[in-house]
Amino acid sequence: MSGPSKLHASAKSSSFAESVIREMTRVAQEHDAINLGQGFPDFPAPQELKDAAARAIAEDHNQYPITWGVPVFRDAIAAEYRRAYALDVDPATEICVTCGSTEAVMATFLGLLDEGDEVVLFEPFYEAYGPDAILAGAGRRIVALRPPGWSFEPDELRAAFGPRTRAIVVNSPHNPTGKVFTREELETIAALCRKWDAIAISDEIYEHIIYDGWRHVPIATLDGMAERTVTINSLSKTYSVTGWRVGWTISPPSLTGAIRKVHDFLTVGAAAPLQEAGVAALGVPDSYYTDLAAAYRRRRDRLLEILERHNFTCYTPHGAYYIMTDIGHFGFGDDVEFARYLITDVGVAAVPGSSFYRHPSAGRTKLRFCFCKRDETLSEADRRFSISRRLRGTAPSV
Ligand SMILES: Cc1ncc(COP(=O)(O)O)c(C=O)c1O
Repeated sequence: MSGPSKLHASAKSSSFAESVIREMTRVAQEHDAINLGQGFPDFPAPQELKDAAARAIAEDHNQYPITWGVPVFRDAIAAEYRRAYALDVDPATEICVTCGSTEAVMATFLGLLDEGDEVVLFEPFYEAYGPDAILAGAGRRIVALRPPGWSFEPDELRAAFGPRTRAIVVNSPHNPTGKVFTREELETIAALCRKWDAIAISDEIYEHIIYDGWRHVPIATLDGMAERTVTINSLSKTYSVTGWRVGWTISPPSLTGAIRKVHDFLTVGAAAPLQEAGVAALGVPDSYYTDLAAAYRRRRDRLLEILERHNFTCYTPHGAYYIMTDIGHFGFGDDVEFARYLITDVGVAAVPGSSFYRHPSAGRTKLRFCFCKRDETLSEADRRFSISRRLRGTAPSV
């Protein structure tokens, strides 16, 4: 054999890095740091869900499920969208159950986008959308969400759409900023989707984690949008079971068929007993969601108070469970240097803002903290911040 070795990564997989969020979790574990980086709860999952999962295993729901989802679970998903949003979803043809919304987004990109298509992303964006676009061969058109309100310029959005636009990703409530898109903003997006015959890929996994009277509006409920929207959701955040890896897509049959095929060859199916338990999750009373939002609101206020007292500049989130901060005034080289300092010297992990931007320099003064944690965890973070001399007496710049 002659010539250069072929034992190397593909060009596509070489063009994105390992997840910074997961890397921060590993480094945090090595240093025994409080993990306010990766967004998973450190409190128990609801008992009735754990019981339902144990029961499903005992009742032997332990073999491959139908690839696009266990029928009772798809029925429960359809019933929930009817109840909550008056959306008519056909469980036989319009749902694909996936391994979390992570796989749902990937299967959607691979199933619906062609090489050379363009997908519009609001920036900052959840880090998976970048590699999703690269693996699908799609180009990215970036539209800025600008602090402090994280709103976008409608003209900038209009300029991002064109004949090559195949889709836009909408994520509301939004990770990492906590922005909740207003109905008016969603109408602007919807009008452009209709004009350019584009698909809205709507990641709504924080739909129930929402504060201050803000309301979640699924873009599929707007005029003419159900026929061009892929709604993505999962059990992870709403039911505090991020490790279960159960999510789903809802879309018209013509799109669902493609998503189901890709999903089948990616994973065959999501865990059968946990889909059975998902029926119990979707059957909880309304009070569960009210209590969930109230508990997260308390945690949000607590972490806001802690961070502001330690001189972070905070952007108050209206939804999701993250606080985006500005750290420019602390005098570090960039966000990654500051995040490493926080882990190794202070013992608190957060996520460098640059991981939410296509060009890292755009996020170099930002750091994201999550507050899906017990009070004791937040108090311990507070105690550790108090010991750091480099956080003391630094006046915020914005
Ligand atoms: C916006 C967004 N989408 C998707 C995911 C992944 O969720 P899942 O556990 O359903 O794969 C996350 C996780 O943090 C997220 O923040």
